[in-house]
Amino acid sequence: MVQFAWEEIKKSMEEQAAHIPVMHKEITEYMRLPAGGCCVDGTLGMGGHTRLLAEQVGPTGKIIAIDRDRQSLETAKKNLSSVEGRVIFVQDDFRNIDRVLEGLNIQSVDGILLDLGISSFQLDNEQRGFSIKANGPLDMRMDQDSWLSAYDLINSLSEKELSLILKDYGEERWHNRIARRLVQERSIRPIETTKDLSDIVLKSIPSGQKWQKIHPATRTFQAFRIAVNRELESLDIALSKIVPYLKPQGRICIISFHSLEDRIVKNKFRVLAQSGELQLVLKKPLSVSLEEEHVNPRSRSARLRVAEKL
Ligand SMILES: C[S@@+](CC[C@H](N)C(=O)[O-])C[C@H]1O[C@@H](n2cnc3c(N)ncnc32)[C@H](O)[C@@H]1O
Repeated sequence: MVQFAWEEIKKSMEEQAAHIPVMHKEITEYMRLPAGGCCVDGTLGMGGHTRLLAEQVGPTGKIIAIDRDRQSLETAKKNLSSVEGRVIFVQDDFRNIDRVLEGLNIQSVDGILLDLGISSFQLDNEQRGFSIKANGPLDMRMDQDSWLSAYDLINSLSEKELSLILKDYGEERWHNRIARRLVQERSIRPIETTKDLSDIVLKSIPSGQKWQKIHPATRTFQAFRIAVNRELESLDIALSKIVPYLKPQGRICIISFHSLEDRIVKNKFRVLAQSGELQLVLKKPLSVSLEEEHVNPRSRSARLRVAEKL
């Protein structure tokens, strides 16, 4: 009988999927940038979408590629060497999009893309502290020059504040129990690693709740990551600023990965549509195709919303 190296095949499929940007077909279709156009990719990551956009605008176009993460920018620059002349790399938070464009003397652009959250590159590096699966320091900063890490929050906030973070940013049912346990444990010794955190979550929740579809600490990790990086605030601020920088018929495409982000996008788009500044291109968010979900299971929860400037 033929013996397949299943683990290696799976690993190679996952590596290939990691290089294909989420909803790449939909982004190409809905962004529909003109040749010679100019577009902002506010979440450069590994440069997958930036490459698509750079191919759409062609050799005379420009992509302003922003990321808060210095390491991601360095890696993306290498990945994008073939379209290098079309990309302007900027290390910043996309909430500062006005400052970035004004600094580059760009008055308006043909499109803006945000692919929210963290990349596989960040998730898979245990030293960054984003992963439940690998043990590493409790960091979770996208911008490694920022002063606040998950360690700082978890070891210094009050029980009430921890509980609020877990409730509001993780929609965690057991927020009170987890917060209480965090405070108890850190009175014995500081909570230092991702393993410490996931063990504490497992000890906090009722035993019948330990076997779920997702790891029981997933919501806790999401909550602290959002708090450390002030992710929802960045999204809200960016959405309040971007419309004046879009050309008429210019499009905003936003891919979100959880309901908190999607709710902000939905509400902002609705308000901007009511005031006549934008029109919705998609009435409902698009989900990933079954085909893409099969190749890249991490894309499962992605939702795309698209709006156009009037
Ligand atoms: C999901 S990944 C993007 C992947 C990218 N589209 C690709 O094809 O490789 C999200 C990236 O956006 C960055 N990011 C998240 N929030 C940001 C913000 N507020 N400002 C700038 N970059 C941000 C993260 O550091 C991460 O590299």
